[in-house]
Amino acid sequence: NITPILLSGGAGTRLWPVSRRVLPKQFAKLIGDESLFSKAARRLAELNWEAPIIVTGDGYRFLVRDQLAEAKAEARCILIEPEGRNTAPAILAAALIAQETDPKSLLLAAPSDHLIMDTNAFGDAVQCGVETALGGAIVTFGITPTRPETGYGYLELAEAVGGSSALPLKRFVEKPDVQTAAAMIANGSHLWNAGIFLFRADVLVKAFATHQPDILETVRNAVQGRTKDLGFERLDADAWGQVESISIDYAIMEKIDHIKVVPYSGDWSDLGNWEALWRESEPDEHGVVTVGDATALDCSSSYLRSDDDRLAVVGMGLENVMVVATQDAVLVADKSNAQQVKQAVDVLSKKG
Ligand code: GDD
Ligand code: MG
Repeated sequence: NITPILLSGGAGTRLWPVSRRVLPKQFAKLIGDESLFSKAARRLAELNWEAPIIVTGDGYRFLVRDQLAEAKAEARCILIEPEGRNTAPAILAAALIAQETDPKSLLLAAPSDHLIMDTNAFGDAVQCGVETALGGAIVTFGITPTRPETGYGYLELAEAVGGSSALPLKRFVEKPDVQTAAAMIANGSHLWNAGIFLFRADVLVKAFATHQPDILETVRNAVQGRTKDLGFERLDADAWGQVESISIDYAIMEKIDHIKVVPYSGDWSDLGNWEALWRESEPDEHGVVTVGDATALDCSSSYLRSDDDRLAVVGMGLENVMVVATQDAVLVADKSNAQQVKQAVDVLSKKG
């Protein structure tokens, strides 16, 4: 059976000012009245797999516990990272823990910032990859691209897309620049990497042993030195401090050659920035989305949002603009700058 690893320790800075250090995007109510984390936990619970291993940051452990309860979902273990080290160490730590009970456990690394409405289609796609993953490949899920998105990884297929069986991968390219992305889309043999991976624990650990031996050693020390803490498991802080910060895509996926791709045609969206939120919030006939106490007059292709009851946002004559107001910060930006909003956070944190 499949054990999900639910990743929920990211900072989500591209969704500032709603996504904050104290409440990153996956725990915030970005769309609808449930957080993405709750939605993800509920989705996994509905699929009747094993209870997930949840990996999160120290500051988010009570959010995880509360939101799990809201979603009526359970965890096999809530693993706490003393500090964020990006996805490669988080996934590896969970895999090493899973190996303690079953060295070859089948694991599904799943992000908590995705919007997937059709749980059954998602479950079916994962089932399509099970046999291939049990055979020793790392399976990833490929989405047909619709725009030259620079926030995703791209999967270059060795053969044309057909049916729903696992296809061999020629090359994995993480977050290309816009020209490269456009060329890959024009070429027609690329899919977006959904960022969801299915693999046997021993296969992943072996990939780290080959390509990232230092990460394997340091993460193993942190796992071995972990302590129980009121229903949580806390990685050893000193050992974790030695771990390199890197995503699974750069650390492993770009380097290995036994990746297989299962095409996924169900609905899927990474709510990574305000442009994605605008797109997924069903813009009106002028392309306008308003959230909370926000009004648009003569605007087009814009996103206006107030998360503070006392603050009315009014946009006039705007085109391609995003305005996001919270209690203590307001973002006003051109929509084409959505991917750069994290720079605003960098600048503000330097100011102190
Ligand atoms: N526990 C933990 N610790 N989780 C983390 C950390 C960390 O340090 N950093 C990120 N995460 C979580 C995020 O909360 C999110 O749920 C998931 O891991 C993926 O991280 P993102 O930061 O959202 O990655 P991305 O969207 O830029 O890129 C990945 O996903 C894309 C599709 O959504 C890559 O896999 C791309 O190739 C892929 O296209
Ligand atoms: Mg993401």
